[in-house]
Amino acid sequence: KRTVVLISGRGSNMTALIAAAADPTYPAEIVGVISDRANAAGLGIAQSRGIATKVIQRADYASKDAHDDAIDAALTGFGAEIVALAGYMRILGRGLVEKWQGRMVNIHPALLPAFKGLDTHARAIRAGVRIHGCSVHFVTPEMDDGPVIAQAAVPVMVGDNEDTLAARVLKVEHRIYPLALGLVAEGKARMEKGHTVFAHFAD
Ligand code: GRF
Repeated sequence: KRTVVLISGRGSNMTALIAAAADPTYPAEIVGVISDRANAAGLGIAQSRGIATKVIQRADYASKDAHDDAIDAALTGFGAEIVALAGYMRILGRGLVEKWQGRMVNIHPALLPAFKGLDTHARAIRAGVRIHGCSVHFVTPEMDDGPVIAQAAVPVMVGDNEDTLAARVLKVEHRIYPLALGLVAEGKARMEKGHTVFAHFAD
């Protein structure tokens, strides 16, 4: 399935998806990367892997709707069948999300539905939870609210700070994102009536 990745920064999850897709048996192909920031480090990484990139900045458009329309047009231009948000730090409008619903996934650095939003690692430490992690989910108009496809848990260690915990979570992000995207691309995980439905193993 033709997949476009949306990023805003470093792009390490994008890089993990590109690496997985290098295997010819992997069901998704990364055909393009879109960033809302011209200086996103991930853009150079994508280019070095021979993947087409596009910068679509909010400041270049008169309204949020016009920015969303430009993203939608770029997705269509890439022939996207699946959209993978990977550290994309902007909330997409309802119209765009509803159009791509069931075909758009995101990775969130917490075990949803806990710790939606920003600063998840600092908040997990403050809350005193002993288990933390990450989730890949279908994107719905409400932020970090869509049905979960895959999760991975890590321990919160005594003495952890935001950075040590983030690094531990990031490692498992790079494992579960390719796994979850593969399930969606193969049709083994799909969104139905607000839930994720998994194919039976017999299929
Ligand atoms: C990741 O922790 C992701 O879960 C969150 O933002 C971070 C992006 O990192 N949404 P990267 O750009 O994939 O390296």
